[in-house]
Parts: sequence; C-alpha cells; structure tokens
Amino acid sequence: MSITSKEFGKTNNGEKVTAYTLTNKNGMEVTFLDFGAIMTSLLIPKGDKKIDVVCGRETVQDYTGDGTYFGSVVGRYCNRIGGAAFTLNGVEYKLDKNDGENCLHSGFSPYNNMMYEVETNETPDGPSIEFSRLSPDMEQGFPGKLDLTITFTLTNDNEVVFETLAVGDKDTPVSITDHAYFNLAGHDSGTILDQVLYLNADAFTLTDAASIPTGEIVDVTGTPMDFRTPKPIGQDIKADYQPLLDAGGYDHNWCLNVSGKDVELAASLEDKKGGVKMEVYTDLPGLQIYTGNFLDGDAGKGGVKYPRNAACCFETQFYPDSVNHDNFPSCILKAGEKYEYTTIYKFIF
Ligand code: BGC
Repeated sequence: MSITSKEFGKTNNGEKVTAYTLTNKNGMEVTFLDFGAIMTSLLIPKGDKKIDVVCGRETVQDYTGDGTYFGSVVGRYCNRIGGAAFTLNGVEYKLDKNDGENCLHSGFSPYNNMMYEVETNETPDGPSIEFSRLSPDMEQGFPGKLDLTITFTLTNDNEVVFETLAVGDKDTPVSITDHAYFNLAGHDSGTILDQVLYLNADAFTLTDAASIPTGEIVDVTGTPMDFRTPKPIGQDIKADYQPLLDAGGYDHNWCLNVSGKDVELAASLEDKKGGVKMEVYTDLPGLQIYTGNFLDGDAGKGGVKYPRNAACCFETQFYPDSVNHDNFPSCILKAGEKYEYTTIYKFIF
C-alpha cells in the first residue's frame, strides 16, 4: 500500500494543483486532485492490465467550469433546487439560476472548482485522503459557514469509502455527493448500456420536464424504473415512458430501501463480459442514477471521446429539491449539528 503525489498543473489563478494516488495491497489505485476533490482515475487490476473505470479530463483547465462534474464532490446542495430559491426559518434565499430557472449543483461557484486542504494517512484499513475546506456564510447563496471534511479511503477489501462530515453555524440545507462516472468495462470502452444494474428501491421521485421533483413519489412496479431484479441499463432506457423521455434516459432519484441508520446496499453494477462488479452502500436516503445522457463526444483523458451513455453516476444524496418538499426526508442541517454520511463503492473483480 502506498500514497504518492505529483504536480498536476495550475489553476487559472496560478494555484498549484497536486494529484494524490492511493494504492492498496491488491494493486487497486485511485487518484484525486486537491482541486474539487476530483477523482481523476480508478484503476482495477484485471489479469495483466489495469482498467480505469471512471471518466475524467486531461488538465486542470479541462476540469475548470466542467459542466459534467466528472469525478468531483458536489455541494453544498447537489442536484436541483426548483426556482433556484427556498425559504428557511422565514427567510427566502435565492440561488444561481444556472439550469433554466433552476439551480443545479449549487450554481455558478461549484465545489468542483474549489481548492481543498489535503492530508493523507496510512490507516489500518488502507490509504486515505482527507479534504477540508471552510465554506463561508452565504457562499453560493446558502446561510451559515460550513466546515467540511471529505475523506476517501481505499481499503484493502477493494472499497472506496467516501465520508462527509460537515458542521454549520446556521441552519442550512446540505446534500453532498460524489459525481464519479463509472464504466466498469473501462472509461474508454464505449457505453454502459449492457452493464447490469440493481437498485434497492421501490420508488422514485417524479420530476417535471425540467427535472424538478413534483413532490410525487412513484412506485417503480411495472415501470422501466424497476431495477429490483437486475437488468442491463439499456434494456428499457428507450421505453415510451414520460420520465425517461423527459430526461433522455435515466436521470432520476430513487428512494432507497435503506434505514439511514447503517451503511446498507443501495445498488450494484456489473460488467459481465469483463468480470468487474461494483456494489454501492450508503446511509443517505436517495440515489441519483444518471446515465450520461448529456455526454456527446466530450473530450476525456488520453484523447478519449465520451459518447452518450459512456458511464453511469451513482450520486447518493438527499432527494433533489428536498428543501421545497415537506414530504421528503429533511436535508436541513441544524446549526452546530453534524452532517455525517458514508457511501462505499466496493469492487469485486
Ligand atoms: C444531474 C444531471 C446533470 C449531470 C451533470 C447529474 O447529477 O442529475 O441532470 O446533467 O449531473 O451536470
């Protein structure tokens, strides 16, 4: 097991960006930047090769203003807030309208372009990297300071453990996710349409044509959204079903059958041909499955061009727009309390 680092480039403000690579005892390797806590690659040893199972870009400049959010941590509130506004404790807060009339991934000052303080540790479980940052009061339009620590540990059981800890000094909505784009056959292998998806969810949150939740929670039974029996992602993706037509594929929040008390199985993805499987565990209530519907030949690392459906994101989260829906689990972090959640990607190969 090891932790190495090297210079990756410079931000447009001239700050030095460092890439940190964690390697576990089985030869799995994951690399992160202190810019956006971006996971730039995740290598799975298979035979005499290493398969890079996440999409990424080539340079810091390519990651700057990256609307795909490849590999980054998204906060303070991931996914959409309808009308780019919410009211909390009687005060209306206005956010950036960066997605039509709505706010996506917290607007024009996204976390994927922020610099973090980094510490690395060799833990008994495996190598680990901690990113920390203090988000100032009213950053992105959200109330209160938020002291944020994000830790990724690459365990010797082939898990990438993503932990978030945040404490604010005012009540504020918080929903922080990891926006890695997975393709278990390799980021450069084409689409994920034949990879087999399982979702531990009986329902999803219905959205309108702009992907804003209507508030309705819909049973997946008998719909193309039912992945309780594993099936290839592509099997029903083109079904004549309004939520799929609106989003151009899967880009929805599933309401997980998890208790929230423990980190429990939420999903899995398997590339049967290559023999690589990933299981996703979390204690968060929601999971956005996004099948790269907006990718369209996007330029990636190593000269790769990512086609539509090149990858699948597993964004564990509070439901989108929860702050405007009383029937959704509450995303409000009370002043002085801890936001503490864990998501695990476990690889079997
Ligand atoms: C959203 C998509 C969006 C993508 C990249 C996902 O989390 O659900 O609608 O296109 O992020 O911004």
